[in-house]
Amino acid sequence: MGRKSLKSKEKKQKRKEESMRLAVAQAKVDAANELADPLQMFPVFQKFERNGLNLNIACERISDMAEDLVDWAFELTKSNMQTLYETGGWGWKDKEKRAEMTEDMARYLIVTDSDNKLVGFVHFRFDIDYDEEVLYVYEIQLIKEVRRKGLGKFLLQILELMAHKTQMKKVIQTVFKQNTAGYDFYTKTMKYEVDETNPEEYVFEEGNSYVILSKAIKPRKVESSNTKGAIPSVAVSNGTPGVVTS
Ligand SMILES: CC(C)(COP(=O)(O)OP(=O)(O)OC[C@H]1O[C@@H](n2cnc3c(N)ncnc32)[C@H](O)[C@@H]1OP(=O)(O)O)[C@@H](O)C(=O)NCCC(=O)NCCS
Repeated sequence: MGRKSLKSKEKKQKRKEESMRLAVAQAKVDAANELADPLQMFPVFQKFERNGLNLNIACERISDMAEDLVDWAFELTKSNMQTLYETGGWGWKDKEKRAEMTEDMARYLIVTDSDNKLVGFVHFRFDIDYDEEVLYVYEIQLIKEVRRKGLGKFLLQILELMAHKTQMKKVIQTVFKQNTAGYDFYTKTMKYEVDETNPEEYVFEEGNSYVILSKAIKPRKVESSNTKGAIPSVAVSNGTPGVVTS
């Protein structure tokens, strides 16, 4: 039998590299999912005290959340999003949304005020998306009274820090195009861009209602003085928490 052609050797090598890369990505996601509370790494981000707000932020796994907390998160999502889902052509189905929000890998940032009143949340997951390790934002929902005070930006910054620390490649989410507040928030303020996995026609087709946006998370070798422990890939400016992604 003759030698295998160079092409087939290269193909085999490429497949091997690809499966090794995927195994590394999966290992990173598994490690992130094992963290009991990723917010513990960033104690300064457990409070939001700005613009007249005095809020506490906690991070919980879905399995640790009380049923009435899940109900509240569901109802807030429904009241903020149902119309957008319906006009965006997705339709709203209580059962499906609830199932998505309570999937095993779901993690939440829960925001409460000083009277313990719930004012907002983020549902996110560490996951593989198109073979890449990502932090996927499923939901960011605030009650009206706390909007436009910098809280949404702060919560997204927490996720970007977590993504840095756990070595995820990007923070990613799907946004309805007609949700101008959400779209402007992500693209203009948070500088998210159309993700490479977003099929081109989704961006340009008139009828298409949503777009996948993401921000690449690039590791930095700068140590922070106001976060707990050594976090070599994250930079936090003194006093004002922020994320440096370049
Ligand atoms: C979208 C949302 C998370 C933004 O959170 P937020 O705390 O209100 O936003 P911030 O105060 O951090 O806003 C930062 C910047 O984002 C932009 N932005 C936020 N809300 C906006 C709005 N309604 N219209 C236009 N731009 C907006 C602004 O540039 C704002 O800065 P400014 O207030 O100084 O002008 C919040 O409005 C919300 O929960 N909305 C309802 C649910 C929703 O649509 N979720 C997003 C799904 S993709």
